[in-house]
Amino acid sequence: MHTITEYREEFIAYLDSMKITKEPRNLYEPITYILGLGGKRLRPVLVLMTAEIFKGDFKKALDAAVAIEVFHNFSLVHDDIMDDAPVRRGQTTVHEKWDINTGILSGDAMLIMAYQLFENYEPNIFRDLAKLFSKTALEVCEGQQYDVDFETRDDVMLPEYLKMIEYKTAVLVAAALKMGAIVAGASDTAQEQMYSFGLNLGIAFQLQDDYLDVFGDPETFGKQVGGDIIENKKTYLYLKALNSGSEIMKQELEHLYSIQPKESESKVSAVRSIFEKTEADKATKVAISDYTAKAFEVLDEMEIELENKDLLKQFGENLMNRTV
Ligand code: IPE
Ligand code: IPE
Ligand code: MG
Ligand code: MG
Ligand code: MG
Repeated sequence: MHTITEYREEFIAYLDSMKITKEPRNLYEPITYILGLGGKRLRPVLVLMTAEIFKGDFKKALDAAVAIEVFHNFSLVHDDIMDDAPVRRGQTTVHEKWDINTGILSGDAMLIMAYQLFENYEPNIFRDLAKLFSKTALEVCEGQQYDVDFETRDDVMLPEYLKMIEYKTAVLVAAALKMGAIVAGASDTAQEQMYSFGLNLGIAFQLQDDYLDVFGDPETFGKQVGGDIIENKKTYLYLKALNSGSEIMKQELEHLYSIQPKESESKVSAVRSIFEKTEADKATKVAISDYTAKAFEVLDEMEIELENKDLLKQFGENLMNRTV
């Protein structure tokens, strides 16, 4: 086994060896740009790590790891258009640096490139990877649609929100773990357990993303702090605040989420303060650690080496405590 840092470095070296930029440059340069901005690389690291946990060669999992990272970056390029986001990983978003049409087409090309990487696998593995990937990608689209639909709905319930984040975010984390298991030829049971671990971890991960969007440090977060509030996103924080605040606070929050123009510093700070007064911030932290604990319970049942369970736990704990 290797350390998390080693997996990340191996992945980056492999990604860099693929020379993506060619003609037409306006299609490929934005792809090299967004992939080069880095990010945590957590999904590819999970692919490589699980491949080795199930006694496979992590090198065999590199193409699957690139596929999932390219897909993830495709989803971010389109997500930033949909969320009207100016900053990604501390830099200008693709659609702002180029334009919306460039973001759409470069994103489309990335989705296709991701699929193409599976062609490097033998037929049985190719089939399993492609099948999982198609199902996952469609669910991500469904999650993204719910996310947008919820912006203009005022009757969103907590279970609907949890389903939405499961689809837009958690299924891809789960798929990363399952893909490593597929490449290594792990049993169906082991594949499903890994998937279930990833699903719970992924839900915790998105809850933390929602939290950081409001309470993150603008210097280090890498995205526009307050972006979700500006876009009227129905996050866990928002739904908890509505449920636990007084009637007056509830009305104020609903009012803040209805006024135009959407973008204002005062709106962000007013909403943030309601999240604090209603202790929605604390409730979110509790939910993050609950879902992480759920993920660890699945892990405890797995028949893998203790040392590997510890590595995955360390990974989960790092996610829970992250600031980026
Ligand atoms: C951002 O994912 C999108 C979400 C699902 C919250 P990451 O937080 O993994 O983004 P990078 O790749 O590290 O920038
Ligand atoms: C991202 O959700 C989910 C996908 C990109 C599929 P967010 O919209 O919360 O992600 P960030 O915060 O922009 O990274
Ligand atoms: Mg977004
Ligand atoms: Mg979004
Ligand atoms: Mg977010």
